[in-house]
Formats: sequence, structure tokens, C-alpha cells
Amino acid sequence: MPTKLLKWSWLAASAALLLAATAQAQITSYDERDRLNTDSHIGKYTGHATNAKEDYRRYCVGCHGELGDGNGEVAQWLDPKPRDFTLGIFKCRSTPTGTLPTDEDLFNTIARGLDRSNMPVWNTFTKQQRADLVAWVKHFSPRFQKEKPGTPIEIPAEPEVTPERVKAGQDVFARVQCWKCHGVEGMANGPSASTLTDDLSRPILPYNFTDGSRPKCGSTDQDIYRIFMTGLDGTPMPSFSDNIKPEEAWDLVFYLRTLQPHNTFNLKERQIAKQLGLKPVNPNAPAQ
Ligand code: HEC
Ligand code: HEC
Repeated sequence: MPTKLLKWSWLAASAALLLAATAQAQITSYDERDRLNTDSHIGKYTGHATNAKEDYRRYCVGCHGELGDGNGEVAQWLDPKPRDFTLGIFKCRSTPTGTLPTDEDLFNTIARGLDRSNMPVWNTFTKQQRADLVAWVKHFSPRFQKEKPGTPIEIPAEPEVTPERVKAGQDVFARVQCWKCHGVEGMANGPSASTLTDDLSRPILPYNFTDGSRPKCGSTDQDIYRIFMTGLDGTPMPSFSDNIKPEEAWDLVFYLRTLQPHNTFNLKERQIAKQLGLKPVNPNAPAQ
């Protein structure tokens, strides 16, 4: 290589190194100490961030990392990746899309774990430990200093399941095109399924209603309602609160139950689907 070029490439290389060093410095100089007084409030429990330091070191740091940025030692082997807490973006929320979760949302998430991921079910902590961990998780993101959590969406009382409601739910499923990702039979094989990526450009699959796995953010009727009305932030799973009315949302929950494998919690919906001779929605039907 001519010396002149060599010199330039050396310069470029050191500039790149310098840039990398600055980026590194930005992460490590992040002023965690300002936020160590973060707390959480869940019912009668008040959590204090600093009280969770030990538990976090012991149980969470290997995946979520010292700085909460999701870069723990084992993160490279995991898919999906551990959450980067510094972003303040969470899948499981009772609050509208784009807003922060409530303390209770995080509290419930930690105990529930996230199915189809390496995030374990943490059912050995006391409630106090869990409340402290919530405060610790929050302290990693400046968002919690600047913003309040969103107001949880209202969920009307669950109506009685009827054949009309199951059919109406199927119409909603067709109209708002859940099937584009989840597939007409809920098997996660819709036309868009293979193209989906999360907000950090990593491939992600839609939920498969038929494989018996648990939805990440809870499996009760209320949880399912909440999932599609608030969306899973950071993923292509959107919020449908602008497209689906509250009564219709219950219809849709009942229809989704007909897609799930035989179980005791959805016997009634499946029986109705059978009686109605319900066929999967037609993806080629003209848009309504
Ligand atoms: C073995 C790895 C692993 C360990 C240990 C672990 N997590 Fe996670 N965690 C994950 C992964 C992976 C995700 C993302 C899962 C996904 O996006 O589906 C996650 C996500 C989360 C989320 C975000 C949930 C949401 O709604 O987006 C929280 C909060 C969380 N973990 C808290 C904790 C806490 C607190 C601990 C320690 C008590 C812990 N995690 C330990 C792997 C781990
Ligand atoms: C643009 C694609 C897309 C559309 C449209 C879509 N989803 Fe999803 N959905 C996803 C993805 C991706 C996930 C998985 C997210 C994850 O694993 O973190 C998901 C997950 C879910 C889950 C399970 C969440 C969990 O916690 O595991 C439910 C329930 C769900 N979707 C229902 C619906 C319903 C009902 C509709 C229509 C009203 C719909 N989805 C439309 C992409 C989509």
C-alpha cells in the first residue's frame, strides 16, 4: 500500500476507534446515580431501587446487563434478546401504546415471565423484593423521570358468549386483518408473517394461537383483550384501540378462543364454532 494511503487508512481507523470510545463513554458515563432514588408503588408495597441491587446482580444481570441495556453475558445466545431497559419500552402494558407501563404492569410481568423467551417465571421472590426490582428496572431509563405512566385502558365487564358474538368476532378478525400476520387459522403463517421485524430490526414471529403456548402478556380473557387494545410496544403487534370498539373487542376475544387448541377454558367458544360450522376467514374477500 502506498504510504500516503496507509497514513489515511490509519487516520480513518483511529477516528473510528475514537468514535467507538466516545460511544462507549456515553453508555458508561450515563448517570445512574441520579436515579437511584427511583421507587415503585404497588398496592401497599413501596419498592426502592437500591434495595434490589443484590437481587438484580444475582438473578437478572446475566441477561439484562450491568447497565440494564440488555447486553448481559449470555444475551448473545438468546433469541428474542433480553429487554434493553434504558429505552423504557415494554411489551406488556395495561396502558395505551407509546406510553410507559404502570408499576403494577412490571410487577406482574416479572412474576409471569415471558413465554417463548428465556425470561423466566419469577415466583420465588416476595412481593417486596418484586416491588424493589420494579423500581430498579425503572431506574435504568430516564423516561420514568420525565413521564408518567399512561392511564390504563378501561375494560368493560365481560359479556356472555353467544354464537352471534363469536360470528361478530370473526368479522372483526377479518376486517382489521389480524390474519395478515397471524394467519386465517391463527397459525402465525399469514402473508406478512415471514417479513416481520421488531423495532430493533430483529426478525420476530406473530403469536401462534394453535401451538398451545401462552401469550407473553397473560392468558386470561382480560389479558387477551388488553394485548390487542394496547399493542406490544417495540414489536409489529399494533394497538387496535382506534379500530375496534370495546363491545367488538369482547367479540374478538371469543373468536380468538375458537382458534386455540381444545382446552377447558374455551370449551364453550369451540362448541359454538362447531355448531356454526365456522370456516376460516377468506383472505381474498373484498375489503369491507
Ligand atoms: C435467562 C435470561 C433472563 C434473565 C435471567 C432475566 N430476564 Fe428478563 N427478559 C429476558 C428476555 C429474553 C426478555 C425479552 C422477552 C421478549 O421480548 O419476549 C426479558 C424481558 C424482561 C422485561 C420486559 C417485559 C416487557 O413487558 O417488555 C422485564 C421487565 C424483565 N425482563 C425483568 C427481569 C428481571 C427483573 C429479572 C431478574 C429477576 C430478569 N428479567 C431476568 C431474559 C431474562
Ligand atoms: C403486523 C402484524 C400483526 C398484526 C396485523 C396483528 N398482530 Fe398480533 N402479534 C404480532 C406479533 C409479531 C406478535 C408477537 C409479539 C412477540 O412475540 O413479542 C403478536 C402477538 C399477538 C398476541 C399474543 C401476545 C403475547 O403476549 O404473546 C395476540 C393475542 C395477538 N397478537 C392478537 C392479535 C389480534 C387479535 C390482531 C388483530 C386485531 C393482531 N394480533 C394483529 C403481529 C401482528
